[in-house]
Amino acid sequence: TGSLGGNGIDTTFTPVSPNTDDAVTVPAGYSSDVVIRWGDPVIAGAPEFDFENQTAAAQARQYGFNCDLAVMFPMDDRDERFLFTVNHEYTTEPSMFRGYDPENPTREQVEIAWAAHGMSVVELASRPNDGGLDPVLGSYNRRITALTPFELRGPAVGPLTRTNADPTGTRVLGTLNNCAGGHTPWGTVLSGEENFNQYFGTAGAVTDTTRLEQLRRYGIAAETSGRKWENFDDRFDLAKEPNEVNRFGYVVEVDPWNPDSTPVKHSAMGRFKHEGASIHVTPGGTVVAYSGDDERFDYLYKFVSSRRITPGQTATARAENMKILDEGTLYVATFSGNSPAAEIDGTGALPADGRFDGTGTWIPLMTVTADGAAVSHVDGMTPEQVAVHTRMAGDAVGATKMDRPEDVEPSPTTGKVYMALTNNSQRGTAGKAAADEANPRHNNKHGQVVEITDDHAGTTFGWNLLLVCGDPKEADTYFGGFDKSKVSPISCPDNVAFGPDGGLWVSTDGNALGFNDGLYSVATSGPNRGETKLFLTVPVGAETCGPLVFENRAIVNVQHPGEKDGSSIENPASHWPDGGASQPRPSTVVAWKNGFGGGAGSLGGLL
Ligand code: FEO
Ligand code: CA
Ligand code: CA
Ligand code: CA
Repeated sequence: TGSLGGNGIDTTFTPVSPNTDDAVTVPAGYSSDVVIRWGDPVIAGAPEFDFENQTAAAQARQYGFNCDLAVMFPMDDRDERFLFTVNHEYTTEPSMFRGYDPENPTREQVEIAWAAHGMSVVELASRPNDGGLDPVLGSYNRRITALTPFELRGPAVGPLTRTNADPTGTRVLGTLNNCAGGHTPWGTVLSGEENFNQYFGTAGAVTDTTRLEQLRRYGIAAETSGRKWENFDDRFDLAKEPNEVNRFGYVVEVDPWNPDSTPVKHSAMGRFKHEGASIHVTPGGTVVAYSGDDERFDYLYKFVSSRRITPGQTATARAENMKILDEGTLYVATFSGNSPAAEIDGTGALPADGRFDGTGTWIPLMTVTADGAAVSHVDGMTPEQVAVHTRMAGDAVGATKMDRPEDVEPSPTTGKVYMALTNNSQRGTAGKAAADEANPRHNNKHGQVVEITDDHAGTTFGWNLLLVCGDPKEADTYFGGFDKSKVSPISCPDNVAFGPDGGLWVSTDGNALGFNDGLYSVATSGPNRGETKLFLTVPVGAETCGPLVFENRAIVNVQHPGEKDGSSIENPASHWPDGGASQPRPSTVVAWKNGFGGGAGSLGGLL
C-alpha cells in the first residue's frame, strides 16, 4: 500500500560527492532528518535519555544502541502510520560510559548493555508537511533485549542446548548481535544473530579438545571475554554453562504485530554468524531463505521449506506461517568459475571471456520433515550436530570459501539474488585460500557484489560478479561493464535492498577509500548495468545500515557514528546527531525528495 509501492527513488539524482563530513548528506533536491536516536523513549513512560545518568531500567524502555536491520510495514493504506522494527546489533561500552574500566565493568553498566542489545518495534507517523517520520509511543511498541525469552526450535534442541536454567533446551533468554535480516510475506521480521562469539568467555578451564575445536571454529577461545559478562551471569561462562553458547547464532523471527508473542530461533536454518536472512517465494509456494555467514572464508547458505504459506494476516495464519522455517532442507553453496584457473591471478584482472562468472551447486546439509524428525546429509554428523556446528558441516562437504558473505537478498521483481561480499584481507595470504573466479582478488580490501540466477527450490545456480568494488580509476575494479569514468567509488558493500520497482541499492561498512560510508543505487539491467551512484553518506565513523527504499523516500540506520581510532568520550570523533559538544548516538534517518508529503498521501507534493 501507499509509499511502500510505487517507483521508488528516481535514480537520475546527481550523486553525492564522497566526503568526510560529520553529517548525513543527500543529493540536491532531497532532505533528511533523524527519526529516532539511541535512548529515545520506545515504551510509554520511558524517561528521556540522559547520557550522564543512564540506567538499565531506562534503557530497557528506550531505543537500543547501534541500530542495524530496518523493516517497515504499513499500518494503514494512507501512509500515515508504519510499524518499524530495528535490530540493535552491539554495544560499545567505552563510548557509552564515562570512566569505563574494561577490566571491571559495574553490574549496572553490564545490565545497561544487555538492555541496549536486541530489537525495537516502534510505530512511526508520517509528518504532514514533508517526508519526515516521527516515533509514536503506540500499543505495538516493544523492546526485545538480552533478557527476553525466545523459543528455540528444530534439530539443535536436545543435549547440546540444555542448561541448568533451562533443562528443556528450548527457552533462551535474549538475542545478541542481530545484524541484517528481512521481512516475510506473512508479516514477521527475520533477524540474524551474527558475532555472538564475543559475549562468551571464562576464567575457568575448558579441556575437552573436541569442544575447544568446535568453539575455535566460531572464533571463541576459553579465556576471559572483552565484556566480562561471564562475571555477572554464569550463562556467559563457557566452563560453568557449556551449552549456553549453542543457543545463539540463529535466525530469529519476531511477530511485531503481537507485542506479547514469544520470538522464535529457527535452528533448522543452521547456526553460524548469520548476517541476516531474506525470503523468496517460488510460484509453487515454496519459501526459500538466503543467509550469509559473515566471516572471512565462510559460506553462503539457503533453506528451502517444505511447507507452503497459509494465506492471510491473521494471528492464526501468522502463527502457522512461523513454522515454515522449521521444516525443509538446509543447503550450502559451492561456486565454480568458467574461466581457466590460470586466468584468475589474484590481481582482479578480468579473464579472457571478460567476466567473472560461472555456475554453482547447493549441497544439502540436513532435512527436517513434517513430524520434526531430522536427517543429516553429512557423513559422521547427526542432525543435531549439523544444526549446532553448521560451519563444520559446510567444511565437511567442501563449500566454497567466500570473501565475507554479508547481506544476501533476492530481487522482488526478477528473483535474482544479490550478495555483498564485503572484503577479505587474508585472501591469498600464507596458508589461506587463493583467489578464485568468485573471489578474484588477493588482499581484497574493497569487496564485490555477486549476482546469482538461482533455481530457487533446486540445487543449481549461475552467477557473475556485478561489481568488483573500489576506486573506479584502479584497474582491479569492475562495474558491470559500465563506463567506469561515470560511477561513484564504492568500497566494502554490506547491505543490499530493493526499491519497490526492483532497483538495487547497496550500502557500505568500513569504506577503505578514505571517505564516509554510504548508500548507492546500482543499475542491474539495460545499457546502464553497473552504473553505481552515491545517494547518501553517513557521519564520521558510521556504517550505513538497514537501507529501505520506498516511493521518493529512503531510511537508513546510522550505526556506530564516531567509531574511529582515537575517539573517546573526552574527544569524540563525531558529535552527530545532536551537534555541539554532544556524544554521538546511533540513530535512524529518513531521506526524502523535496515536495514529498504536504497533505493527503505520500505523493501529494509531487503530483
Ligand atoms: Fe554486522 Fe556482517 O555486519
Ligand atoms: Ca568467466
Ligand atoms: Ca552488516
Ligand atoms: Ca557490517
